[in-house]
Amino acid sequence: PLALPGGLDAPASHRIADRYAAVERPVPGHFENTPDSDPSVGAVREWGAAITERIATSTLGVSAVQQARITSGTTLESALRRVRAAGTAWGSWSGAARGAVLHAVGDALEANRAALIEVMASETGKTIDQADPEVSEAIDFAHFYAELAASLDTVDGASFTPAALTLVTPPWNFPVAIPAGSTLAALAAGSAVVLKPAPPAARSGAVLASVIETALDAHGAPADVMAFLDVEESELGKDLIASPLVDRVILTGAYETAELFRSFRPDLPLLAETSGKNAVIVTPSADLDLAVKDVVASAFGHAGQKCSAASLVVMVGSVAKSKRFRNQLLDAVSSLTVGYPTDPTTQMGPIIEPASGKLLDGLTTLGAGESWAVEPKRLDETGKLWSPGVRQGVRRGSEYHRTEYFGPILGVMVAETLDEAIDIVNEVDYGLTSGLHSLDPGEIGTWLRRIQAGNLYVNRSITGAIVRRQPFGGWKKSAVGAGTKAGGVNYLVGLGSWEPAVARA
Ligand code: ALA
Repeated sequence: PLALPGGLDAPASHRIADRYAAVERPVPGHFENTPDSDPSVGAVREWGAAITERIATSTLGVSAVQQARITSGTTLESALRRVRAAGTAWGSWSGAARGAVLHAVGDALEANRAALIEVMASETGKTIDQADPEVSEAIDFAHFYAELAASLDTVDGASFTPAALTLVTPPWNFPVAIPAGSTLAALAAGSAVVLKPAPPAARSGAVLASVIETALDAHGAPADVMAFLDVEESELGKDLIASPLVDRVILTGAYETAELFRSFRPDLPLLAETSGKNAVIVTPSADLDLAVKDVVASAFGHAGQKCSAASLVVMVGSVAKSKRFRNQLLDAVSSLTVGYPTDPTTQMGPIIEPASGKLLDGLTTLGAGESWAVEPKRLDETGKLWSPGVRQGVRRGSEYHRTEYFGPILGVMVAETLDEAIDIVNEVDYGLTSGLHSLDPGEIGTWLRRIQAGNLYVNRSITGAIVRRQPFGGWKKSAVGAGTKAGGVNYLVGLGSWEPAVARA
């Protein structure tokens, strides 16, 4: 484990997937509890104030980022060649042997839970209750992909040749779980990995990479099979993405970023999970108390900075007319405690950078017919701390209806019928997550047949997909390239080639 001054020992196992493995599932996504709203998940409570003190003063990962900074084209090319050679060696191992190493990586992530929470919270402002299950998700990915690696040895009548080098370009909002999932999938497939962090979360990436690299080394994986490269300069970043030495690129980020990557290299072998504009529909048959809780968690967890976050709630029929749901929702939003992760009472943390551009517009400007039901307020000089906002009167086809803002704003829309609500939700260009609150099996069936999104959740929050249970990915402009779902059995298919070819699921 990384050195952890202050004696924060690794806690007992808190793997989310283990907790859910035994639960029966009558309808996919039905009546589930969720990791990001479950206060008993994680070990942080056992650490008490020690971890918040460490967050306040953390410098973890700073020197690792400096060491990993690549500043010249020659260095970049030689680094890629070294990693590629390691990938060729690693790809000749059996899947079972790679899987054994990845299980050890999972254990190493678990042993370093405190360090990973510390660096995420100090660098990106992520609150502890969000960072903790994120580490659990990374651990789950390790064990899940370890099992998939072993299964590659036993596919009847086909053999798998991994890509030699996979470039992983994660987002800043899940700076541990997403790069861990992408990196471990590629390693499971038998590919070497270059991890290029998102600049606002480079330290988190560095700490994650050092945990993974140390475990790989300790278990005999070829040296350099994983490299953390911080390529800051834009020309070099472009060279990295366009390099013919890169066989696959796993991107999680904005749709526009995927387009930019493609402009660098039109035939880029890309697996990208991109933007979302996600909605929750609430029908008159819903458990309204549960709906309020789930909408608030989905919209304002991590200050709305999740591709999976709810940005719209559509109230159907009497839900809109009776005002009960609306009033409870507004009360719940107004009473959220906003602050920094160093304060354990914080329920909603800051946004990553001072609000600007589209997000600032979303926080300050109303469209035709809209008004603030809860007006967002800038709470301090940093420009990062905002109270949550709810806008009502959002019209079909308006700017707000169609735009992803990636911040703590929720828009309220109204529909006469479930069908109309589904049309409203399907009208946006994206299709990542979607939610329904209804206790009527007929309504649930209609919604499941018609709704256009990659991840569907009934009567639970629409964030916090669970590894193995809810493979995560999108439709429409929420996916670009191979479009397979992370954390699902098909994910490794896109990270190599099959001989003879197998049908894609
Ligand atoms: N996988 C993340 C979630 O489900 C994005 O919220």
